[in-house]
Amino acid sequence: MEIKYVDSHAHLDDDRFNDDRDELINSLKNNGIDLVLNPGADLKSSKNAVNIANKYKNIYAAIGCHPHDSKYMTYETIEIFKEYTKNEKVVGIGEIGLDYYYDNSDREVQKKWFREQIKLAKDVDLPYIVHDRDAHEDVYRIINEEHYDGTRGIIHCFSSSVEMAKEFIKLGFMISLGGPVTFKKAKTPKLVAKEIPLEYLLIETDSPYLTPVPYRGKRNEPSYVKYVAEEIAIIKNLPVEVVAEQTKENFKKLFKL
Ligand code: NI
Repeated sequence: MEIKYVDSHAHLDDDRFNDDRDELINSLKNNGIDLVLNPGADLKSSKNAVNIANKYKNIYAAIGCHPHDSKYMTYETIEIFKEYTKNEKVVGIGEIGLDYYYDNSDREVQKKWFREQIKLAKDVDLPYIVHDRDAHEDVYRIINEEHYDGTRGIIHCFSSSVEMAKEFIKLGFMISLGGPVTFKKAKTPKLVAKEIPLEYLLIETDSPYLTPVPYRGKRNEPSYVKYVAEEIAIIKNLPVEVVAEQTKENFKKLFKL
């Protein structure tokens, strides 16, 4: 039987797919991809993600503002996002969070809109997708402070420790691993893959970024998620089919698909 994967995080709305987006999406099925979640990064890309999800059965959208662009957020944007969630192909809020590596927006501004978008997720009762780069403690603290009954979501491209992964799981999250787990020097993601039970793991590409080995340096695309799954399978000493199946099941359960 052919293996089918779910890519829990790919920016198919990104400009780098402008020349071949339709072709790429139409060939997903033949390339072993069952479903893809396209998260938004700002108002425009959220709108584009929704349009793509409307057009293709196998693509779902999340809407939200990435910490990089939180300086452009307004309460009006929150209201527009809220309207988008009425669309049944919109299954989550994201990606939202904190990025202290680039600091493209002021940290206080990032924190404010992270909280406001968590409140939106609560309001519309959808999972939220978290971006955390070099901001592990503040991300955890804010999620914990804003915690509510029904908190659930994904820590995307997880880059923190096994201990932190366990804490996020306790708060209702799944841990998504991407291209870095295939990098030779990436000890921590490999350790997370080893120690965290498969029931709490998802796989992703973060296309067009973070391309796994052996295509590192090239544009990433959803079909490369198999390299992430294969690495996890090796680390966990499981057949890759099991990793594909369980991560698909986890995804469907989280988003009630
Ligand atoms: Ni992303």
